[in-house]
Amino acid sequence: MKLFVVLTLFPEAMEAYASTSILGVARAKGLVRTEFVDFRDFARDRHRTVDDRPFGGGPGMVLKPEPIAEAVEWVEARHGACRKIALCPSGRPFRQAVAEEFLGPERILFLCGRYEGFDERIFSVLGFEKLSLGEFVLAGGELPALCAIEAVARLVPGVLGDERSAIEDSYSSTGLVGAAPDGARGLDHPHWTRPRVWRGAEVPEVLMSGDHAAIARWRARQADQALQARLKSMQRTVD
Ligand SMILES: C[S@@+](CC[C@H](N)C(=O)[O-])C[C@H]1O[C@@H](n2cnc3c(N)ncnc32)[C@H](O)[C@@H]1O
Repeated sequence: MKLFVVLTLFPEAMEAYASTSILGVARAKGLVRTEFVDFRDFARDRHRTVDDRPFGGGPGMVLKPEPIAEAVEWVEARHGACRKIALCPSGRPFRQAVAEEFLGPERILFLCGRYEGFDERIFSVLGFEKLSLGEFVLAGGELPALCAIEAVARLVPGVLGDERSAIEDSYSSTGLVGAAPDGARGLDHPHWTRPRVWRGAEVPEVLMSGDHAAIARWRARQADQALQARLKSMQRTVD
């Protein structure tokens, strides 16, 4: 079974999300296990301190390395060695290819930061890798960790009701990649459902034709157009 352990200061908030929807289903099916560990429980002082002022001055507080190290050692003593990932805005960008890569390790330990982030020695001494959910800054690593876990969990065979969903999803390495340029992955085609006419807008005729080859060709063209539009909007963002 795939194991995700998350070190966080907000285990209850994360547990509430992980016990519902697809993560709850993955758990119920016995395919994915998610555990949330409060690393404040590993602070040794009376006030259960996990942060301190930054050396060199400046605003905010920095997460101390000792409670994190003790929490990691406790987790690894129970479960065995884990791949260790710390959520950091400056880290390796998370994308579908990384989610697919994370299917490999049996156990992944995520570390959620708060305040100004971590003492650098959690990387050099404890061997955490940095992972970023994007070029923005949140107050903590909890949402990024849940995003990454959900993206990986839905790829675990048996978690989704229909395996084809993950194969045909945008950015999938296994789906049809249409006319994607080097390095870009294909997108899903757009979807329609009943009613056939809604507020004057009709479902495209081809989808009602029953001609599966024509539908497949039409969807591939639609996916290509979506990809070109996305690449153009990314170019605008860079400009
Ligand atoms: C306020 S942020 C710290 C930001 C840090 N001082 C910086 O500028 O890079 C607190 C914590 O939120 C998490 N976090 C915020 N934005 C993130 C992002 N885009 N990706 C991953 N983690 C993020 C990290 O765990 C981080 O340690």
